[in-house]
Amino acid sequence: MMRKIVAVTLSSLLVAPAALAAGPAETFQAKCAACHGKDGKGQSDMAKKLGVKDLTSTKLPQAEIQKVITDGKGKMTPWKGKLSDAEIAGLAKFVAGGLK
Ligand code: HEC
Repeated sequence: MMRKIVAVTLSSLLVAPAALAAGPAETFQAKCAACHGKDGKGQSDMAKKLGVKDLTSTKLPQAEIQKVITDGKGKMTPWKGKLSDAEIAGLAKFVAGGLK
């Protein structure tokens, strides 16, 4: 029992630095995939219900994407204050680049 607790504590310590340095792909899965689908194409049941467009083929320029993420749009809630400016900028670049 004790050994298991030690092992769990150790592994969470090992994982922590990676979580802190989460890139836009990880942030997307954590914060955006619920509504936009894991691949951002809006094919999940939730995405269809919300009527989201395929993010991989968005026509919006990066600056506009950044604005949508920051301020929200329609049923999409704003992320200002919930994600750092750097995270939002990273996500905008990631989405503008076709989620790659
Ligand atoms: C609560 C569900 C929800 C979450 C979570 C969400 N979105 Fe959205 N998103 C939407 C909806 C709905 C729209 C369509 C808004 C409209 O056009 O009226 C949208 C639109 C967008 C658009 C504009 C696409 C276009 O071509 O017009 C971008 C870019 C976007 N979302 C990125 C993100 C990113 C990045 C995240 C994660 C930080 C995210 N969204 C999280 C629901 C969500």
